[in-house]
Amino acid sequence: MGQIEIRGLSIDYRKPKSDETFTAVENVSLSIEKGSFVTIVGSSGCGKSTLLMAIAGLIPRARGSIQVDGKEVSKPGPDRAMVFQDASLLPWRSVHANVRFGLELQRWTRDDIDERAMRYVRMVGLGAFADYHPHQLSGGMRQRVNIARALAVDPDVLLMDEPFGALDAQTREVMGDELLRIWERDKKTAIFVTHAIDEAIFLGDRVVVMGRNPGHIRDVVDIDLPRPRTAVMLDSPAFVAYRKRLREYIAADMQSLQMVEDVV
Ligand SMILES: Nc1ncnc2c1ncn2[C@@H]1O[C@H](COP(=O)(O)OP(=O)(O)O)[C@@H](O)[C@H]1O
Ligand SMILES: [Mg+2]
Repeated sequence: MGQIEIRGLSIDYRKPKSDETFTAVENVSLSIEKGSFVTIVGSSGCGKSTLLMAIAGLIPRARGSIQVDGKEVSKPGPDRAMVFQDASLLPWRSVHANVRFGLELQRWTRDDIDERAMRYVRMVGLGAFADYHPHQLSGGMRQRVNIARALAVDPDVLLMDEPFGALDAQTREVMGDELLRIWERDKKTAIFVTHAIDEAIFLGDRVVVMGRNPGHIRDVVDIDLPRPRTAVMLDSPAFVAYRKRLREYIAADMQSLQMVEDVV
């Protein structure tokens, strides 16, 4: 039994201005072990965000079940923290006060909140920027604040939806390294959505490959690379083989999309 057990999950959306529904995710089953790092890849529109939001308890499901630690997910909870692509920081609050925010919603004492928030600000390398406001930070720094904020509340599961999607390639690599460094410290269960194949392989213990029409799981690839992961691994024969295998899936998906568009 995994910490997260998803069985026969389907999610329907209502079509705009109509009573019809359409199925965004169909019959997804997945078991995620406690403390593992799972990445999800797939072309745009295949239901990655939908799946993540369902685990977060932010959207209802049509069929199937999602259990976290044996409990059916019905709403968001402090056991699951979410990081979105666009750093959703409060602009009028400093870095420290943004990280404090999540803690203020829980029952911590004031001193604990200050100290704990600062610890996580330092953990993501922003100790010198604690009093800065979001507009004074780079995109990468803002995302670090988001990650600090998510981790500070001590969730069991960290859900990340393309958290580095808006960053340039170099910053992205650095952030990936840092995320792994932090994750290796306390091994929270992590689910990380990306459409970058290398990132998915580099970070993950397993890569879940999704396909579309409707969104489903095509394959789950175990990534048998040692940890800590390092940049030299990107050129290793094993990494190259994973990359090739995953690219073929995505290419096939793009082709099928092209055919749909040709018909339309
Ligand atoms: N709130 C919504 N209402 C209706 N359709 C939606 C909604 N959110 C997403 N969709 C549709 O569901 C499908 C999956 O979307 P999404 O989960 O965002 O995919 P991904 O994150 O993989 O790009 C897409 O076809 C998208 O247009
Ligand atoms: Mg998405």
